[in-house]
Amino acid sequence: MKRISDSAFKVLDILERFPNSISGEVISNKLGITRSAVWKNIKELRLMGYDIQSSQKEGYRLVHSSSKLLPYEVHKKLHTEIIGKRIRYFEHTPSTNSMGKQILSEGDPAKIHGTVIIAEEQTGGVGRLGRAWISPSGGIWITILLKPKVPIDHVFMITMAASVAIARAIRKEFGLGALIKWPNDIFIGKKKIGGLLLELSAEADVVHYCLLGIGIDVNNPIKDFAADLQRDITSISTEVGHDVDRASFLARILKEFENRFQLVESGEYDAITQEWKSLSATLENRVLIHTMKNSFEGEAIDIDEFGALIVKKDTGKLERVIAGDCIHR
Ligand code: BTN
Repeated sequence: MKRISDSAFKVLDILERFPNSISGEVISNKLGITRSAVWKNIKELRLMGYDIQSSQKEGYRLVHSSSKLLPYEVHKKLHTEIIGKRIRYFEHTPSTNSMGKQILSEGDPAKIHGTVIIAEEQTGGVGRLGRAWISPSGGIWITILLKPKVPIDHVFMITMAASVAIARAIRKEFGLGALIKWPNDIFIGKKKIGGLLLELSAEADVVHYCLLGIGIDVNNPIKDFAADLQRDITSISTEVGHDVDRASFLARILKEFENRFQLVESGEYDAITQEWKSLSATLENRVLIHTMKNSFEGEAIDIDEFGALIVKKDTGKLERVIAGDCIHR
């Protein structure tokens, strides 16, 4: 795990406060360090992705903040009370969910509540139903660690709250018409842009902790995916036509999620369900369902109080789907 050293932070702080460039000499005087120490810090910041111009005449100028999802960049934009106040950042990790399990096994889950684990790249990302989740750099691959005060039979509401939060964040930040495909895939038009994976540790009816994994294709080029995947997925940059500020987007997601997580904790399930329904791409659609047991078609007419999809078959019989794949026809 890389982090910016304290001295490089001080240099960064000065560069941010003097956007029109500042000489190495002035920086070294302000911080009481040598000019070669300033230079070392500049090199470190460049390695962390900060675009810093230097010229003999004018000194240093911060041209662009780092495009990495550094905790410092997320915190600058974050307006939450708990979620994301602590961030663990990794350049590479197999999976932020498995990293979350490691962090939870080493610490007190109560103190870890709200921690967000960020990876620039995952080498073994996991999707729903044990599928591989390809996670190159440029996407948002995170896990939120939660110790929720929610009864075990309503923990699924946390995933519903998170999918609503992501769809809302995409709409507010980029003006794109994001919708939710049952159970919790985020779609733009007919293409998937993100997904969620909730894992929990529970005993009897007590939830010890949840790991809410979120994956969103943001600035990662879709052309790098296998041809069959390219047909079915999109990314934010593909939709808007340019790379976007991932730190602002993530800060927005965390805020939207925190607001709704509070509703879940105070038992206001109906508010979440109604918002989920209003953003659903699945309801009122003809769907093909594959479960562990069987496959069938019908019309998706509702979700029940446990998040199960209610499908009306052509015979008129209602089927309740708790888990499985849902294909829009
Ligand atoms: C899905 O299949 O739609 C769920 C995808 C969830 C992917 C995210 S990326 C961050 C976190 N770490 C993982 O290994 N998976 C989740």
